Amino acid sequence: MKTIKIKKIKSLKGEITVPGDKSISHRAIILSSVANGDSHINGFLEAEDNLRTLNAFKLMGIEIERIKKGKLLIHGKGLNGLKEPFDVIDAGNSGTTIRLLTGLLAGQNFFSVITGDAYLRKRPMERVVEPLSKMGAVIYGRNNGNLAPLAITGRKLKAIDYISPIASAQIKSAILLAGLYAEGITSVTEPVKSRDHTERMLKAFGTDIKADNSKVEIKGGSRLKAREIDIPGDISSAAFLIAAGLIIKGSEILIKNVGVNPTRTGIIDLLLKMGGDIKLLNKRESSGEPAADILVKSSSLSGINITRDNIPGTIDEIPILCIAAASAVGETIITGAEELRVKESDRIKTMVDGLERLGVEAEEMPDGIIIKGSRGVPSGRGAKGPAPAGTNQGSRNKCIKVNSYGDHRVAMSMIIAGMAGVGNHKEVVVEDIECIKTSFPDFLKLLRRI
Ligand code: S3P
Repeated sequence: MKTIKIKKIKSLKGEITVPGDKSISHRAIILSSVANGDSHINGFLEAEDNLRTLNAFKLMGIEIERIKKGKLLIHGKGLNGLKEPFDVIDAGNSGTTIRLLTGLLAGQNFFSVITGDAYLRKRPMERVVEPLSKMGAVIYGRNNGNLAPLAITGRKLKAIDYISPIASAQIKSAILLAGLYAEGITSVTEPVKSRDHTERMLKAFGTDIKADNSKVEIKGGSRLKAREIDIPGDISSAAFLIAAGLIIKGSEILIKNVGVNPTRTGIIDLLLKMGGDIKLLNKRESSGEPAADILVKSSSLSGINITRDNIPGTIDEIPILCIAAASAVGETIITGAEELRVKESDRIKTMVDGLERLGVEAEEMPDGIIIKGSRGVPSGRGAKGPAPAGTNQGSRNKCIKVNSYGDHRVAMSMIIAGMAGVGNHKEVVVEDIECIKTSFPDFLKLLRRI
């Protein structure tokens, strides 16, 4: 098991770029593969999760050339150009790969099996299998179709109007991709709009798609025209650096070319609300996605309430938000976030465990977490002792061990916590950091540079 020992650092300074957006990179491979003609992709994230999607399409006969790092040329074969995979498709740790591909595979004229690693095989698939079955898909899996491996007998699908009980881009995208192969117009309505990269990219590829707020409609049989796609940096990766820049004293970081799609910028809105000094500069649009440079300066943060409507726009950033909250003045209360329990780990449990090991007071709730900021309680709201509130006196100044539980975002959050001195330890050892490669292979290299 790979571990790392982290010491509190003085400050972070410099200009950096973060790797390409993970969600957009998956979609770029999928849509280019079923488009007619050659698509050039720039800024593709060469992380484990995206390589799983890439390999799946190679297995289905798509020729994909790697021109150089992050630059691909995909020879798309049209909507009906995929061929039956010769082997089981392995999605590894990637929920986006398995769920989006299940939607796409349901409408093919061949049989396929898709599975993943031990973590992914425990995550719920019923959320896509159920609506796809309503479209006429034939999908079998363990636990009554809820768990991978999933066996999919592709067939002609029919359009549905699906009201999703969960705000999830993976559910929405699986249905839209199946909708491409269905007869009629398929619609998906969500309780709160989730990230809309699939809709934006389907539109950029010229399909007949209509999106208004939380409802999307797609017409079956829409052809995709090959094109060039520029993928901006991933705001979910930038989030670790933004939070680090805010909570590590004396820091100033400029993060260049980050995707700032409004369905993804919840982290910036919440950190601004906490008092963070964050500026979006040089706003522009690239391949239908907004992008900007982000300037961050260290700030004094205050605890806030994060509620259900905030969750879809900040779903992957809750672990690092917990670290920011632990460094804030006062309490942060996160509710309506039960979806965190079915991520790469049960992030309510794993973050509470990590925070407690660091000596931060954190309380697990069924749908969220309460975090007592380690920089004390604002005057007039409670006791102020000689030590910061929320820190566990007994463990201060020792070397503390925390575990990622195989979850890349928990691992990176704990590394930032160690660098920022959350809990006031001399050293923090983060165990099981191998998983970082699923989304941000150069994370440590980049941190060392600044
Ligand atoms: C993703 C959607 C989100 C997110 C995941 C990536 C996507 O999952 O957590 O990391 O690319 O569609 P849900 O759809 O389960 O919320």
